[in-house]
Amino acid sequence: METSFAKALLTGLTKRQKSLEPKFFYDAEGSRLFEEITQLEAYYPTRTELGILEAKAGEMAAFLGSGTVLVEPGAGAPTKAQKLLAAMNKPLAYAPGDISIDHLEEATRPLRTEFPQLTITPFQLDFDNEIVLPEGVSALGPVAIFFPGSTIGNFSPEGARGLLSRFWNIENSQTLLIGVDLKKDKAKLERAYDDPEGITAAFNLNLLARANRELLTDFDLSSFRHFARYDETLGRVEMHLQSMCNQTVNVLGEAIHFAEGESIHTENSYKFKIADFQTMAAESGWSPVHVWTDPNNLFAELAFSKINP
Ligand code: AVJ
Repeated sequence: METSFAKALLTGLTKRQKSLEPKFFYDAEGSRLFEEITQLEAYYPTRTELGILEAKAGEMAAFLGSGTVLVEPGAGAPTKAQKLLAAMNKPLAYAPGDISIDHLEEATRPLRTEFPQLTITPFQLDFDNEIVLPEGVSALGPVAIFFPGSTIGNFSPEGARGLLSRFWNIENSQTLLIGVDLKKDKAKLERAYDDPEGITAAFNLNLLARANRELLTDFDLSSFRHFARYDETLGRVEMHLQSMCNQTVNVLGEAIHFAEGESIHTENSYKFKIADFQTMAAESGWSPVHVWTDPNNLFAELAFSKINP
């Protein structure tokens, strides 16, 4: 039994507003569904950011400098890093980090072929703790942190500031290149998180399927529905799993009651204004240097360097 998931589930389901952290989305099935989401017409962030990287890789590479070590915390597929590495002048190492590094060996194989000179060192990390690079990597050259995908949007404002400070504290880190999803009209945002094909619904409901698989809970998936709404005041898309009836679910020996309409809050995805994000980053010691956006201002790639104390 996966004990951290079990603990988090019980803790989350005994809160007044039931909740579960988004990191539990990404078991094998959830990761597969997320890859499917990134291909959807409704989900604009991935292809938009890739477009920015393709168009501006040269300028980004100039900013990152030569002989740099590229560190990607929370790396899934290295498609975006690949675009940067191809444009960079003599990158020395690529260190993708993730909670589980099993998939990274396999995922970085094409990079090993494309960049035979590059040291590739996947490493384990947990965003809740200090980020420690693999032995010797930070001595190779200046470290650039690459954090694409608006993953920062999953964190609360306090959590985001904390994470940006952890990036600042990474040994020899000098620059930060971070992808953030921008504030835009409500309908477009809600469609991106509730696509007509139902893949995001399946991704959200997979949390309950995962609990049934791993923890032998008895969630009836047909009695919960996915919903996503953009809260303009808080500047975030919230995803919930809403119970469509009064029901009691057995979760690890506890009877968890759901009233009709009651929900489990499963994700926040914050959206930003460029200037607001820069202000927040500055509070964690990062000074804004460049901004790259797509022609429709949907998404932004922001460059920072360390403010010297
Ligand atoms: C991987 C956190 C950036 O918030 O857009 C996609 C996850 N959730 N569809 C996002 C997600 C629903 C995604 N991030």
